[in-house]
Order: sequence, then C-alpha cells, then structure tokens
Amino acid sequence: MYRKSILCAVVLALALMKGLCMAQPTDWPPGGPKYLYVKPTKKPPHHGVYDKGMKCLDCHKWDGTDAYTSATMAIKKTKTGRAPREVVEKAILETLKGKGDYREIYMLSTSFDNKPLATVIEFVIDPKTFTMYAVSEKQTEKLFHIAANPNVSLAYVKQREDYMYFEGALGVQIVGKAQQLKGTDPGFEEAARVYIPTLPLPKPAPTIPQPPTVDMLIEAIRGGKIITKVVPERMVIMNRKFKDEGYHAVQIWERQ
Ligand code: HEC
Repeated sequence: MYRKSILCAVVLALALMKGLCMAQPTDWPPGGPKYLYVKPTKKPPHHGVYDKGMKCLDCHKWDGTDAYTSATMAIKKTKTGRAPREVVEKAILETLKGKGDYREIYMLSTSFDNKPLATVIEFVIDPKTFTMYAVSEKQTEKLFHIAANPNVSLAYVKQREDYMYFEGALGVQIVGKAQQLKGTDPGFEEAARVYIPTLPLPKPAPTIPQPPTVDMLIEAIRGGKIITKVVPERMVIMNRKFKDEGYHAVQIWERQ
C-alpha cells in the first residue's frame, strides 16, 4: 500500500514536470516571452529619432500582450520622426498605384481554425477611401477562410532586380476586415465598377460585342465570382527614403 502510494506520487510528479516543461504560449507572462524584447542598454547609432525627454523604457517595456508592445507600434509614442497623415497617405498610394490604376499583386493572409494561409492575389485599392477589392473564383480555399474569420492581413513588397531588400526596402502591411460580396448583394456592383475597368479587355470574339461595356462585364462575373472587399484598419509603410526627410522608415496609418 505504502509502496503503491510512493509510486503514485512519483508518477504524479513526473506528469506535473512534463506539464511545466511543455508550457504552452498561453502560460507566458503579460507581454509575451522576454527573449523577444530589446534590452535598452546602449542605443545603436542607426536608432530612429524620438521626442526630447523620452526615456528608453517609454518604448522598450512590457505593455501587455498586444501589438502595441511591438517595435513598429512603439513609434507611435513619439511625435519626432512621425510623418503627417497626408504624407503617409500619399506615400502609400504612390507605392500601391500599379500602372496608375491601383491594381497590384499582394500576399493575403487568412486563417481557419487558427491555421494561417498566405495567398497571392490581385487587389485594386480605391484611392479615395483605401477600400480594397479582389475578384475570385468560387470554392477557393481563402474564401472559406474569410467566411469563417473576416480578419485578414495583406502585404505588398516592391520587387527589386538587385535584391537590395534591406537598404531599398519599400512595402506596405495592411490589417483589416474582409467582406464577401456575391452577385446578388448590394455593394457587388459598386465594387465591380472599381475593379473591372482596371482589367485588360477580354480577347475579341464573335460572341462578345466589341468593345464590351463595363455593364456587360459586370453581368459576366455576377453569377460565378465572389468579390472580396477589405476595409483597412491599419496600414504600415516601410520606406527607407523617409529617413532622408528626418522621418522613421516605418510610418503608421490608422482608420479614424
Ligand atoms: C519612441 C520609442 C523608442 C525610444 C524612446 C527608444 N527606442 Fe530603442 N527602439 C525603438 C524601436 C521602434 C526599435 C526597433 C528598430 C527600428 O524600428 O528601427 C528600437 C530598437 C532598439 C535597439 C535594437 C536596434 C537594433 O538595430 O538592433 C536597441 C539596442 C535600442 N532600441 C536601445 C534604446 C535605448 C538605449 C534607448 C534610450 C536611450 C532607446 N532605445 C529609446 C523605439 C524606441
């Protein structure tokens, strides 16, 4: 009996230890694991500018588990180095303007059941509202993801032939909410009117009146396609050229 209870105690202790060793992310202290933080002992010479009187710990400290603890969001705590909103908006549109029609290729991140999926997809951004539109074939994986979880993120990077992606970094990261529009939904037509004129016209065929009007093309996609509308909540632009103007290379835009 005595032996048995010792055995039980040992088994229980081992089970507990195993539990501790296999600590899951949820067991982390507020702010996440310490190894992800910068130790503000010495400021490197290339460090970004910030307001006079700010202390290192104003930015380099534990703020609770949210994105605002991250390096990017720490920049929001200083006025120095932040570009005015109009400058940030102009720079984002300039970066995403494509051939002038605001259609560009992105990486779209969705998630289903906590498992992420990154999909390469074209979006058109409306330069007046920053709302983004994409047209997709039905029954594709990303559409099931979005139906289950409308939280999405997009990334655009300016491709470089010289591969100088660090020195010449230019890209935009977007976080927003996605909405699915089918042909019968209000808003489908409005979205299609932004997207369709940016597409090359279909090859001439005897069955298609030449040139096909936007209205005809909208009817052609109404039944078979889904329009994904993304309303950005936060856009972060990384442009090393900002540094020449005394700004941070990273600038943040948030919906007001
Ligand atoms: C306004 C917020 C802010 C303040 C104040 C601040 N930092 Fe930082 N620091 C950042 C951000 C953001 C980064 C991430 C790198 C980047 O975006 O350039 C960073 C990065 C660093 C790094 C890593 C840099 C690298 O390239 O590896 C060190 C070290 C550092 N800071 C030290 C300090 C010290 C020391 C002070 C005070 C004297 C200080 N910081 C004050 C925002 C701040």
